[in-house]
Amino acid sequence: MQQTLKAIVDNCIKELGTCNDLSALNTIKVKVLGKNGELTQVLRGMKDIAPDERPKAGKLINEAREQIEKEIDQKENVLNELELQKRLENERVDITLPSAKVSHGALHPQTIVRNKIIDIFTSMGYSVEDGPEIETEYYNFEALNIPDDHPSKDMQDTFFITDSMRYNIILRSQTSNTQIRVMEKTKPPIKMINPGRVYRCDDIDATHSPMFHQIEGLVVDKGINMSDLNGTLGAFVKELFGSKARTRLRPSFFPFTEPSVEADATCPFCDNKGCRVCKGTGWIEILGAGMVNPKVLTNCGIDSDVFTGFAFGMGVDRITNIFYGITDCRIPFENDIRFLKQFR
Ligand code: DAH
Repeated sequence: MQQTLKAIVDNCIKELGTCNDLSALNTIKVKVLGKNGELTQVLRGMKDIAPDERPKAGKLINEAREQIEKEIDQKENVLNELELQKRLENERVDITLPSAKVSHGALHPQTIVRNKIIDIFTSMGYSVEDGPEIETEYYNFEALNIPDDHPSKDMQDTFFITDSMRYNIILRSQTSNTQIRVMEKTKPPIKMINPGRVYRCDDIDATHSPMFHQIEGLVVDKGINMSDLNGTLGAFVKELFGSKARTRLRPSFFPFTEPSVEADATCPFCDNKGCRVCKGTGWIEILGAGMVNPKVLTNCGIDSDVFTGFAFGMGVDRITNIFYGITDCRIPFENDIRFLKQFR
């Protein structure tokens, strides 16, 4: 038996010597120590040994088992270490490799310009108000001193949703509706802007769209006058187009302001010399404005003998397109990544 055990141990050590992975090691383990393994067989043979020989035989078997287990354990440690090395090698990350390109989005050019305009006015203490895009004719027209039969209503033909109520429900044609809504619920002093979408019945071409964006402004307080409007617009234009930019006011007409003006800024592309963008005039029109018509104040329950105000409204699409030299107002809304990513 001693020889058998020695042969088993020697053979096992030999096999361990050439074994180089964990699954081969397991095979050896099973072959020697398993349920039908070589050493187990020897152990089973104990019953055939004379009882007084058994303790000695048992000791020998145990010694052989201990030696084999020790050898296997050692080999297992070596192989585990090797396996780990291999895995680390395989999973190595080469941090010097160039990374996969992640394309990230950018703000829409109009959002950039709108934010800039909002920043300018909030820095002057204006609040940013919200008004509904689905509106009644009252807020969009009548309260703004545009009665049903007024010809100026034709200039802002919009989408009528329902005529079943006292006032038709429409898509607002101008952000001026928010003036009324704010004045109805707020006592002066009022200093607000309202950026938002507006709608008009228009075909789509390079200069027309049935949906576009405006920013409305309104200031109401005691003693507000035309020079406040002039100074505010002058400061705004300098912030927007640079400190050299100047403003001029031309007489105009809006039912909700009296007097009314159209404001032009010196063309930022040619410094007022005349170029393609300003069509040779040196000026670009940027907004409509005026002193709030006392009738509008009265419509909102504000005493027009005590309070006066100015208002203005500008087209964000127009200003954006001027800013970036965009010549077709459809392009910013075509979702063309090649166009949009230029504004990153
Ligand atoms: N709502 C006008 C438009 O859409 C723009 C405008 C002009 C707004 C004068 C005003 C204003 O608040 O005072 O053409």
